[in-house]
Parts: sequence; C-alpha cells; structure tokens
Amino acid sequence: MKNLRGVAVAGVLACIAAAASAAETFEARVLVEAARPGAVINPDIYGQFVEHLGRGVYEGIWVGPDSPIPNTRGIRNDVVAALRKIRIPLVRWPGGCFAENYHWRDAIGPRAQRPRGVNTAWGDEVETNQFGTHEFMDFIEQVGAKPFISVNLASGSPAEAQSWMQYMTAPASSGAGQERARNGRTEPWKIPFIGIGNETWGCGGNMTADYYSDVYRQYVSVLKPYGAMIASDANSDDYAWTETFLTRALHRHPAEVPTTFAYIGKQLQIDMISVHFYTFSGNDWGRKSPATGFSEADWARSMERTWKTDEMINRHSAILDRHDPEGKVGISFSEWGAWWATNKDRPSNLYQLNTLRDAVIAGLSLNIFQNHAARVRMANLAQMVNVLQSLILTDKERMLLTPTYHVFDLYQGHQGATLLPTQVEAPDYSSSGVKVPALSVSASRAINGEVTISVVNLDPARAANMQIGVAGGAVQAASGQVITAESIDARPDFGKPDPLAPKELSGVAVRKGAVSLVAPAKSVLVLKLRLLPQPGSGAKKTAE
Ligand code: AHR
Repeated sequence: MKNLRGVAVAGVLACIAAAASAAETFEARVLVEAARPGAVINPDIYGQFVEHLGRGVYEGIWVGPDSPIPNTRGIRNDVVAALRKIRIPLVRWPGGCFAENYHWRDAIGPRAQRPRGVNTAWGDEVETNQFGTHEFMDFIEQVGAKPFISVNLASGSPAEAQSWMQYMTAPASSGAGQERARNGRTEPWKIPFIGIGNETWGCGGNMTADYYSDVYRQYVSVLKPYGAMIASDANSDDYAWTETFLTRALHRHPAEVPTTFAYIGKQLQIDMISVHFYTFSGNDWGRKSPATGFSEADWARSMERTWKTDEMINRHSAILDRHDPEGKVGISFSEWGAWWATNKDRPSNLYQLNTLRDAVIAGLSLNIFQNHAARVRMANLAQMVNVLQSLILTDKERMLLTPTYHVFDLYQGHQGATLLPTQVEAPDYSSSGVKVPALSVSASRAINGEVTISVVNLDPARAANMQIGVAGGAVQAASGQVITAESIDARPDFGKPDPLAPKELSGVAVRKGAVSLVAPAKSVLVLKLRLLPQPGSGAKKTAE
C-alpha cells in the first residue's frame, strides 16, 4: 500500500465524505496527479505473441484459402476483425522455443511444395509450413499491426537471420527482392523489431549470460541495419543475467569501457532487453493450478505471483539505471500471462480456458506495465489465440472473445496516452498466507484530454468504496464499464451468452470535482473522466 502525500491529498480529498463501511466492503482513496504527467504509454505494451504451437497458428489464424471458414487468402476473417477492433499494435512470431528450430526458407514459395517438418519444441507435431513469412506478413497487414520477428540462435546462424531480413526488406530490384517478388510480394516489408534469440538460457541455446552477450554482439553486427534490436530475456527474476548481459554486451574490452552510454548508440545497439514472466498459482512452474474449478488459495497465489511483476520491473530497471542513466534502453515483457495446468490428452498444445481470474491478472499486469511506462515499452501476451492466456479461443468455425480480450478492449484509451501518477490508499487482501495490495490503479490522459483510469479490485469477497480525486484538475463528468461475475472462475462458452462481457458501471457519482464509486469484488473496471477546463495552465489548481 502506498501512502498518500499528506498535503496534496488533504487538499484534494478532505472534502470527500467517507463512505459508510459495510461488512463486505473496504474503503479506498485514489489521488490522480494530473499536474505531474509521466511518460507516454507505448501502445506496444498491448502487443501479442504467436507461436507455432497447438492451435495457435493453424486453426487460430490460418485455415487455408479453401476452408469453409470465412477467410481472406487463408486467414480467418473473424479473428482479424476482433483484433482490429482492439487495435493490436504488434505481433511477435514465430516463437518462442519454436523459433529456435525454425528455418524460414522451408516456408516460402508454393505452399504445395513446402517441406513438412517436425515441431520438436512442441510435441513433435507435424509442421506443414503452410503459414510462413508471406502468410504472417499478410496477417499482420490485415490486422494493421507491426511485426516482431524472433530469429533463430540455437540451430540457425547470423547468415540465415541476415538473409531472412534481406528477403523481407530488400528493394524489388535486388536479388533477394526478386525472389520475394516471384513468391508474390514486390514491395519490401518493414521489420521494426527483431528479437535476438528466445530464452537463450534454455531452449534458445542453453547459454550462459556471458556467452550470449558475445553471440548477441555478433548477430547485432549484421542485423542492426534492419530494425530495433531486442535482446533475449532474463528468466523472470534472474537479475544476474541482466547485470552480466548489460556489462558484457555494452563494453568490448576493459580498455575500451566507455564512461557514457552514448557509446552504445553508436557502436552497439540494444533497444530493449526482454523479460519473460508467467503467472502460475505460486512460484513453482511444475505445480500449476487448473484453469477452472480452482480454490481461493489458487486465486490468492496467482495474484501474489502477478504482483511480482512490479518488483521485477523495479529490479531490472535499477540495473538498467546504472548502465543506462539516460533511459535509452527499454524493457520488453516479450512473454507474459497465466499458465495453467494443461490438457492431459495433448499436453503440448497449451490450450486453456480463460476465466474472470485471467481478466484480473490481465488488468493487474497491464496496470503495472503502464505505471512503469518510462522503461516498459513493449509487452507480448502469451499467446494471442488458443494458447495459454489468449485473447481469442476458436473451436473450428466458432470463435469466442475471452475475458482477457475484454480487458484489452476496455484499456484501449491508455494506448499512446500520457501516464498520470496515482497514489492509492487501500488495504491488503490476505488469504492462504498471501498478503498483497487489494487494489491496483493506473491513469492516463489522452491528447483529447480524456482521462482513463483502470482499476483492479482483486479481493474476491469485498467491494471497494472508492473516492477518486484529481490534483491539478477537477472532474466534470465520469462513466465506467466493469468486468465481474459471481464466481471466481466464471467463463464464456461457445454459443452461450458471455457472463463477462463488460457492463456499464452504475453508481458512478461526481461531487465537488471528485468521483465516488463502488468497485465490485473481483473486478476490472475502466473509468472515463472529463475534467473541467482549467484557467491558464491549470497545473496548480486542485479540486475543491
Ligand atoms: O509460450 C510458451 C513457451 O514459453 C515459449 O515457447 C517459451 O519461450 C516459453 O518458455
């Protein structure tokens, strides 16, 4: 729990009457600091991750041009329309561990002639290579998103990665461009983000941080011209990895150690380091909670684990701050989301149902990313369709939007808006040996002045009587939408009414420039505020 800063808070909130406590409620006060804007929230925080795994690509995106499922050049129309609606900014592909076994040449040219491979990363299933570079880029263009290509370090080479980038980006008159044109695409594509390996501490080559630093430098020396360089991740809270990587990848030789980070911009490019972090019930990857029918203890441990994201960003950022005091290098959460127990019939497909718990985890994670917008510049939900904590599930021709999708939908107002710091005064949620803040809040102001506030009340039993004041502004009007349900594992099902579809939040009241509302137990809600125009700059004025 953060303490409100005495004077400002008193000034803004003193006039707000305390709501009466009821048995199943707690009191919460929030101060939004409109006069102290922070960093711009990079829309890429709403990025996605897609891997050749289970039904993530085949069925989830690709059905082929001859499929009875409505499609455009083989890509599902319903999935594309759903992703466009929530303005998905970028998609990371082709893996994951799959990327470390991927050879791009197997998946270009006439589809009927492409070799059939084996997906050794995921259950030795046959990889038909029907969805390759051209199909992925077509999908990206249909969605209106940017590509993030993860290159193969474990079984590939710098030459293979470089020729892939040339194939995609070379002018049509070059040899690589002519080959691309023969395969159906004359215009070069742009590749804004390139991932230099995936989990290089594990499936991406089983490397030490020392060794990876040198490999990274080698790949960067040939890939740097093509896009932003995203270094392979530290495994969650492996801070030693980040320290070693930054120390070794930034400096060539002790005699050459630069005193300023400017050196890196000129000599060696690290645009972002990545972190992979999954939510389990607790910290043990081997003991996972069921996706539905879980206990409150599982709920509590999942929330505790998700809150760790905040600590992880703080600690990776502290290392970055020493190496990069100017804040040039960002953090990409290249894989995040909930990982529940897998279907025993096909354990490698990582298909899981999505409940209210997933919505709360999504809301909490996105709030945390946003509140660190100065460093966290990208995140990729694992994974977009049919794998782990998805936005979308399909069942052949049927599609459903998950509770996680609804969170991304409601949070759209934050994309590209300016972070407004918040101070939150609320009790902890305690259960099963877990003690975590019950409330998470993130606020931002869009260019048109609209303020978006996302609130997660993760307490499964108690509603929050909330009072929200704005320092440096006064609220004129407010409305909200909420995702909640009776049961902690409520979920949508194909062909049935969606119990988690966002609803108007009733009882949002504006009085004397502040807002009061009740955030239901186990809910994610998003408020839209219109502030009163401030005379002059308005920066100093507070609500009366
Ligand atoms: O998202 C599933 C897997 O999780 C990815 O392939 C890998 O990078 C991570 O361990």
